[in-house]
Amino acid sequence: MEPTANERPGAGRRVCVVGASGKLGRYMVGHLLDRGFEVVGVCREQSVHKLDDYADRITVIGAQTDDRAAVERAVEGCDAVLTVLVPWSMGHYASGTAQAVLDYARPGARLVFSCGWHITRDGKDVYSWHLRLLVATLARLAKVIRVVDLNDQIEACRRIFASDTSWTVVRGSDLEEGPSEGLPVWSRRVGDPVLASNRTRRIDYALFMVAAIDDEELVREAPAINGRLTESALAHAAAKA
Ligand SMILES: NC(=O)c1ccc[n+]([C@@H]2O[C@H](COP(=O)([O-])OP(=O)(O)OC[C@H]3O[C@@H](n4cnc5c(N)ncnc54)[C@H](OP(=O)(O)O)[C@@H]3O)[C@@H](O)[C@H]2O)c1
Repeated sequence: MEPTANERPGAGRRVCVVGASGKLGRYMVGHLLDRGFEVVGVCREQSVHKLDDYADRITVIGAQTDDRAAVERAVEGCDAVLTVLVPWSMGHYASGTAQAVLDYARPGARLVFSCGWHITRDGKDVYSWHLRLLVATLARLAKVIRVVDLNDQIEACRRIFASDTSWTVVRGSDLEEGPSEGLPVWSRRVGDPVLASNRTRRIDYALFMVAAIDDEELVREAPAINGRLTESALAHAAAKA
């Protein structure tokens, strides 16, 4: 039997998605609506049209995601805020976005942020030479083309890790499109064999972000995720069985 509106897990709760118009953001909006949450989305004015499919079901605030006044308005009364942190622009966009969410979300709200495996909380992650090379190349390229600032995404996460809010920073592996494989597996450390396949469906990354709202185990954690049907995740599950 289908759950009634009031039985759905999100019934009566409001969630803000900051960066709602991107691929990850739109998947999150879809999952939230499926679960009965009320949704407020923030995205750049020029991207509001990307949310047309949801137009009559969510509230959209068109603004840069580091616009403090817009974020203050968007997160008002929200039980959770899901934020897509991106290293775009040289204007401290990621850290400005994170700071606005940290400053204006109501006390006790669940704050869930997205980023990549390259972010480390305690320096204990173990990276493959391939990932180290990729990040170093991207950082060098970013300095030349000046449209991406990886260091600002690092600064954004430093501020989140230092905050006393109920945060979770979800560190995504390489992403791919495709139908859902279910909730990704996670580990505190990049380098853990369960993550070796380094591949998550974007739709499932969004699922993890949404599920984190009600997962107390993830409060003040920076889980690195990997698809649950990848080779390394299946090998780990088989070894445990
Ligand atoms: N791509 C990967 O392989 C990968 C791997 C690991 C982790 N992640 C993490 O996953 C999250 C989503 O990343 P994604 O790559 O999948 O992209 P995405 O979901 O499509 O999101 C990209 C976001 O960046 C915004 N954006 C694009 N250009 C911008 C600009 N010039 N100035 C400001 N904002 C701009 C987009 O806003 P508009 O809609 O307004 O353009 C959108 O909100 C990020 O936190 C990322 O760190 C990604």
